[in-house]
Amino acid sequence: MKSLKSKIDPAHLPNHIAIIMDGNGRWAKVKGQDRLFGHYHGVESVRDVVEGCAELGIGYLTLYAFSTENWDRPPGEVSGLMELLVQTIRKEVLTLNKNNIRLQVIGNISMLPDNTLAVLEEAILETAGNTGLNLIMALSYSSRWEMGEAARQLGRDVKAGKLDPETIKEETFEKYLCTRNYPDPELMIRTSGECRISNFLLYQLAYAELFFTPVLWPDFRKENLYEAILDFQSRERRFGKTSEQLSSESLDKGGNA
Ligand code: IPE
Ligand code: IPE
Ligand code: MG
Repeated sequence: MKSLKSKIDPAHLPNHIAIIMDGNGRWAKVKGQDRLFGHYHGVESVRDVVEGCAELGIGYLTLYAFSTENWDRPPGEVSGLMELLVQTIRKEVLTLNKNNIRLQVIGNISMLPDNTLAVLEEAILETAGNTGLNLIMALSYSSRWEMGEAARQLGRDVKAGKLDPETIKEETFEKYLCTRNYPDPELMIRTSGECRISNFLLYQLAYAELFFTPVLWPDFRKENLYEAILDFQSRERRFGKTSEQLSSESLDKGGNA
């Protein structure tokens, strides 16, 4: 079968794609295996999708790998996931550097075990000079945690006289979020058929196009990514305006309506 890649318009790529990688446990269950087996296979999908985004020239890819709520899973699953994270990062740093990919993290990483944190920080440092795809791992992340942190820091700055509450605008608040250095995602993909956000980038997804697919994460490959991007390219992003306004703006710019 011909790849969907050739149908993608390279001039209208989303600059930032965010993915809720879901369905590892169910994938394993279908195969009569334990949940960790699903997580291990999920790494293959991460590899393929990261490569796919880098090849397309996507600027930012944020992967929801572990939520604040996931700490409440059975201890064996949590420690298995942390171990998998350490192994994967150790193994992939060379490839990240070879492909000019810069690894970054958002989340409450102080909750991570010491050795996980150490390996992660080393990889972040080792890839800091790369200028291609920004790969952002959301680890021990939740949006409500992030907003609570932002509110606390903002409060401290007001108290210290560094910030006048009357001058606070959207852009001021955004500077307090973990994502301050990244543009908002334009496309958010969730696998496994669940149609919810699960505390992921609630503020930043305000105008993202959402793509839900029944494919379980360990089965997700570049072709599935291309399908999501094509779907994104077929949508009209109106940002509150009317379709007619957008057509005339595009004519004014000399584009095709
Ligand atoms: C996503 O798969 C991975 C993590 C949340 C760490 P799940 O582990 O949530 O798999 P399901 O949803 O139970 O199938
Ligand atoms: C969301 O998946 C978090 C990650 C993919 C890391 P979950 O499987 O934890 O989400 P819920 O609990 O089903 O909403
Ligand atoms: Mg799940």
